[in-house]
Amino acid sequence: MGYIEIHSHLLPFVDDGVGSKEQCIQVLQAYQAAGFDRIVLTPHLYNPYVATRTKNIRPMFTWVQEAAARVGLTMYLGGEIYVGASDNLEVLPFLGRFVLLEVNYVVEPLFLLNQAYTLLKRGFDVILAHVERYQWFTTESMVARKLQEMGVRFQSNVDGVESGLASRWLEAGMIDIIAGDNHGDPSLPGRLAALLRKYPEVLGRMESLFQGNV
Ligand SMILES: [Fe+2]
Repeated sequence: MGYIEIHSHLLPFVDDGVGSKEQCIQVLQAYQAAGFDRIVLTPHLYNPYVATRTKNIRPMFTWVQEAAARVGLTMYLGGEIYVGASDNLEVLPFLGRFVLLEVNYVVEPLFLLNQAYTLLKRGFDVILAHVERYQWFTTESMVARKLQEMGVRFQSNVDGVESGLASRWLEAGMIDIIAGDNHGDPSLPGRLAALLRKYPEVLGRMESLFQGNV
């Protein structure tokens, strides 16, 4: 089985990801060449800084599934859910049960623990995106410990691992997933594959989480 990318913005005309169908296909080919066989699309939802055209999500997903099948990739639709103050978030779980969350980079979000708890109670598996980016969040913080105790999985971005920003998280064994968070960069698939080879313990966690989930 090939690698899986679980965080990407590769639907054209939807969010701040790829700008055209051609760019999307170029990036898909790069994933295929780097040894991937599955990609999860996670358009931004509820993010106050990104204007997502939600009505384009389904038609573009139908289009990308066909384009991806031609290069031997299977695509899954999810979403990157921004946790702000709103209750009853409508989520787009991928592989039947995974929900990817993001929060404010600068200010500690008031409702993260609550929302994560609610989603876990609803039966979802919760993933917190790019943990190394949040300025208020550290490996030793109480909120990190609580989230881990609840069973929330932590994801790091390729750029965060490469820059060293995610080092403490990796050294503490707290990273379950490395992902590209790809907004249209054809160099990311190869870089992600290299990191998955470099961190076999993370790859192992990803395989046990996402294998057999179709
Ligand atoms: Fe993202």
